[in-house]
Amino acid sequence: MTIVDEIKQFVENECKKPTSKYGYEPFTFHFIPMVTYAEKLANELGGDKEVILLAAWLHDIGSIIYGRENHQITGAKIAEEKLKEFNYAPKKINLIKKCILNHRGSIENKRNSIEEQIIAEADVLSNFDNIGGIFKAAFIYENKTQGEAKKSVKEKLERKWKQLHFEKSKKMVKPKYEAAMLLLK
Ligand SMILES: [Fe+2]
Repeated sequence: MTIVDEIKQFVENECKKPTSKYGYEPFTFHFIPMVTYAEKLANELGGDKEVILLAAWLHDIGSIIYGRENHQITGAKIAEEKLKEFNYAPKKINLIKKCILNHRGSIENKRNSIEEQIIAEADVLSNFDNIGGIFKAAFIYENKTQGEAKKSVKEKLERKWKQLHFEKSKKMVKPKYEAAMLLLK
């Protein structure tokens, strides 16, 4: 197994555990689309592809194991420990940690490398493949009515669209964004 397969399996196993803070669903509906976008962006924009794939699989591991709060910090620590078990190159581990630490929307200004930018961008892009998950959050976690949920999902996708940095990314999800705007009008 490659290191990427090993790490993918580690993340999937953590999602399967009854202790997973959000159950198994994030693996199917967030991790898989997120990694797919990260790989597409790596092909288009460059960067160290192995680092990008590892960071993509690991970027939300802190959230699965300990919950959403500060999950960039807990996630970077878990990633470091896990990758050290495979004797992974310290320089690459450092870059993966930076990708995880800086993937959240609120810390945009700190991203210096293409790898960090791709991880944050893929995370934003994955929203356009998971409208069900955004609705679930509105209904289940935020207790919204149908009208409120529809409005908040539309606004979230509008916000995510504006967060996209690369023209290539916009091109990838434009039909989905436009379809969503039409359906949520
Ligand atoms: Fe994420």
